[in-house]
Amino acid sequence: MTDLNHSTPQPLPEAPDMRAALDAQVSQAVAKKEKLRYASKAERIIEVQTEHVILHPQLKKAVNRALWMIKQQPRSRAPGLIVTGATNSGKTTLGCSILKAYSQLAPSSFIGSVRPCAVMIELSGLATSRAVYGRILEQINAPVNCNARVADRELVVTMTLRNINCRLLILDETQDVLKTSERDQQRVLDAIKYLMNSLKMPVLAMGVEQAGKAFDSDQHLRARFSEIKLPAWRDNDDLIDLLASLEPNLLLQGDVNLRTREMITKLLELSDGKLGYIIDIVKNAAIEAIISGKETITPEMLRLPWDSPPHEALDGTTIH
Ligand SMILES: Nc1ncnc2c1ncn2[C@@H]1O[C@H](COP(=O)(O)OP(=O)(O)OP(=O)(O)O)[C@@H](O)[C@H]1O
Ligand SMILES: [Mg+2]
Repeated sequence: MTDLNHSTPQPLPEAPDMRAALDAQVSQAVAKKEKLRYASKAERIIEVQTEHVILHPQLKKAVNRALWMIKQQPRSRAPGLIVTGATNSGKTTLGCSILKAYSQLAPSSFIGSVRPCAVMIELSGLATSRAVYGRILEQINAPVNCNARVADRELVVTMTLRNINCRLLILDETQDVLKTSERDQQRVLDAIKYLMNSLKMPVLAMGVEQAGKAFDSDQHLRARFSEIKLPAWRDNDDLIDLLASLEPNLLLQGDVNLRTREMITKLLELSDGKLGYIIDIVKNAAIEAIISGKETITPEMLRLPWDSPPHEALDGTTIH
């Protein structure tokens, strides 16, 4: 991890009652999974397809840093974090997980006047400050006046974000800023910097490996961002832990061991070390095992991620 602003994330405070609540949630989830293993094939297929976020070590680090930024007291030099990784490495999943926990509607244990929330936008196709503000307004379902001048829009955005107590702006596809002219890049960065300064609001940006360069043209902004890289998966203990966390989610009634040498070699070969592909390959194999009644996964069942099981296993119209 490159720490550009040299600020060290602190561990989140963990009260004993919070620990007990988390333990209770975990044992409930384990009991639910055990019950689901004996549900009908159709129910299990739906459940296997459902996204369950696995908190692998680098993701944990990014989540901790992002939640620290949300929970900390506002400071005049609002910090930023950029999370980079190859395509299909879990960047949007990270943003959506934070957003889900801190959406305006999510339940929260926050005690105070207006509980903090996060707002997420994509930076693709934006070339002006006005467009950045417009996208934020759309995202929070606030009315967008097409004729409003940039200063008016800026005012509406800052007022609205302040009213809903937005404590984190999440930016996805940050590298797309680099696709515009230098002048347009500066306008987009100006809007981000303005919001960070006027609202003392931290920013979590996400993008592919070169996304950090999007901030390079603004030294003030660049200096505020630390960087966490989501890894390409290799044959190491982290991968073993990831596969171990995946196994119970596959709801197979037989024994499943994805951690054998043969399985690991084949998974890495077929997925090119990309998390999204590893998950698709394993889930497809699990669905096939449910349909066929094999109830276990063997190396021969691991295929390319886009080699889907027969669609007849899913509900919906068929073409004959
Ligand atoms: N931590 C995780 N646990 C479980 N599944 C994950 C995790 N991270 C990513 N995935 C799965 O991997 C797939 C790709 O993830 P995601 O869309 O977040 O990648 P991305 O890095 O944003 O890709 P892109 O650069 O193409 O936008 C998704 O289907 C998602 O469900
Ligand atoms: Mg994405």
